[in-house]
Amino acid sequence: MLHESRSPEVLLRAPSIKTHYILPSDKSEIDRLNLQNQLLTREVCDGKLVFAPMELEHGDQVLESGTGTGIWVLSLAEAIPPTISLTGIDINTRLFRQEVPSNVSFLQRSVTNLPDEWTERFKLVNQRLLIGGLTRKEWEKGLQEIHRVLVPGGWVQCLEPCIPLKTDIGPHTERMFEVLRNLLSNNGLVHNIVEVLGSRLPRTGFVNVQIHTISLSAHSNGDEFSHRTLMEWFFVALKPGMLATKLLSSEEEFEKLMQSMLKEWDESPKAAVATTTTV
Ligand SMILES: C[S@@+](CC[C@H](N)C(=O)[O-])C[C@H]1O[C@@H](n2cnc3c(N)ncnc32)[C@H](O)[C@@H]1O
Repeated sequence: MLHESRSPEVLLRAPSIKTHYILPSDKSEIDRLNLQNQLLTREVCDGKLVFAPMELEHGDQVLESGTGTGIWVLSLAEAIPPTISLTGIDINTRLFRQEVPSNVSFLQRSVTNLPDEWTERFKLVNQRLLIGGLTRKEWEKGLQEIHRVLVPGGWVQCLEPCIPLKTDIGPHTERMFEVLRNLLSNNGLVHNIVEVLGSRLPRTGFVNVQIHTISLSAHSNGDEFSHRTLMEWFFVALKPGMLATKLLSSEEEFEKLMQSMLKEWDESPKAAVATTTTV
């Protein structure tokens, strides 16, 4: 059964939110996001869903912005008392899980325009991997909105990747990242978001900003699913957008670049292809 509080909003507002978002919202993307959640929680967040230095208590409310499949919200719901309520928002409802516990709701909303009645409501806001969706202006507005809906003393935890300008892995890896940066810039998105967040958060009024940077290995280390698998899936998901940059002339060129890049990763003993930063 659908959670009572969500179906009307989801159904009524579905088509109207404007977006620059560059990733798909199909079955493969659901699998990719769910796998990504496992790897990020394990390898970046030390097994913790809440890595901000705070404790959740009975009656608290938690918001996730850009919730995607809602996997973070649903995983957290399993680990906390049902008296804590969790809300996930996204501009796109297509990835939402249909059946959710009674303390969880998913709504179609942009982080740049949160409801007036949410002012000072949430003890924690989680926002992860919005690099592919928000322009510079939207980041500014989104952070202001998050600041407004947090209770005084509440926390926001963000996790975003550093897209390297130089990797030292090899020319094919450099090329792939160059195309990626181009795709982001062509869509008005912010490829150096981690840097921007470092200065934007204090200017928005956040205090006690802590930045942690973690490098993730490009090797499979014998695991069936590793960060390497995830990066491969990520580039495949972005293939249409990368071709649209015109820096690659055909699917064949994309496939060749991908294979050459993966070979470079295998041959480079210290290859770290993504650096993820938590704030
Ligand atoms: C890469 S996915 C990450 C999903 C989820 N945070 C996770 O880590 O599994 C980014 C999500 O942000 C959503 N998004 C993009 N622009 C948004 C906006 N302005 N407001 C809210 N969500 C947005 C996309 O629709 C997508 O579901």
